[in-house]
Amino acid sequence: MSQLETPPEGLNPLADGVAFIDNEYMPIAEARIPLTDWGFLRSDVTYDVVAVWGGGFFRLRDHLDRFFRGIGKLRMAAPHDRDGIAAILAECVCRSGLREAYVEMILTRGTPPPGSRDPRACENRFYAMAIPYVWIAPPEKQEQGLHMIISGVPRIAPESVDPTVKNFHWGDMVKGLFEAYERGGETVVLTDGKGNITEGPGFNLFASIGGRLVTPAGGVLLGITRKTVIELAASLNVKVDVGTLTERELRQADEIFISSTAGGIMPVTRLDDNVVGDGGPGPITLRLRQMYWDAHDGGKYVTRIDYG
Ligand SMILES: Cc1ncc(COP(=O)(O)O)c(C=O)c1O
Repeated sequence: MSQLETPPEGLNPLADGVAFIDNEYMPIAEARIPLTDWGFLRSDVTYDVVAVWGGGFFRLRDHLDRFFRGIGKLRMAAPHDRDGIAAILAECVCRSGLREAYVEMILTRGTPPPGSRDPRACENRFYAMAIPYVWIAPPEKQEQGLHMIISGVPRIAPESVDPTVKNFHWGDMVKGLFEAYERGGETVVLTDGKGNITEGPGFNLFASIGGRLVTPAGGVLLGITRKTVIELAASLNVKVDVGTLTERELRQADEIFISSTAGGIMPVTRLDDNVVGDGGPGPITLRLRQMYWDAHDGGKYVTRIDYG
């Protein structure tokens, strides 16, 4: 809706989202970045996404920790400290009025002085936004489970682009997604090109094999949802192997699920042309998914937002 139109009574005109750019808050539809920012021109950027559920951030501290680790690895410096960023994110959410939100913080290299190609000369830029919550697979789809394809496109080598720094180098993921659609799938997981599973567009992957869970150790983002799964599994005395997961092992898994801030724990019930397990979401997946959402009701992971 354009700003000139009057929103229907009772509807917050900022409910589509709020952005923070250059120390100003604005409706998401008005958010603009400078064309010359290397975050856009060169994918020279890191970011993080924290969910808001029921009016509280979920694991905000962990997301800030990962964001600042990435900033350090890219030799950038944020113009705000952790508390400052937490306050900006809360303000974006508060202004939007959203109780369930997808909240993103971004630090770009910025724009170099005219004529310069030296990343050291750029002034890094901070952006943030809160938009309505995003699902990789909505709850209705999760009842049935996702159809996943193992892509022939290898994940960008970790020696080239460090996957533990959350990044916008999604060329391999997008190529893999198109391959999946062409093969009748809904989502995709990439290998390292040597037969080992890595991750997919916006998620980590777990396989349940003979009662234990396996998730790849390397070549992946250290997902906060992945970390939650590992903690929840430990509380159930389910063994988790963080190691290698070969394509062949994945094909024999009893259960498969993906984990992401954008949707939580989501079952995969078809892999290429085969059903996984009995073809429906499996018991370990369902148990962990229930525990994951229960953990959003309050307790150590939740930071409540004061909507004023
Ligand atoms: C490439 C990639 N792997 C894994 C994840 C899952 O991370 P998290 O659970 O912290 O959302 C994401 C999230 O966006 C991602 O982009």
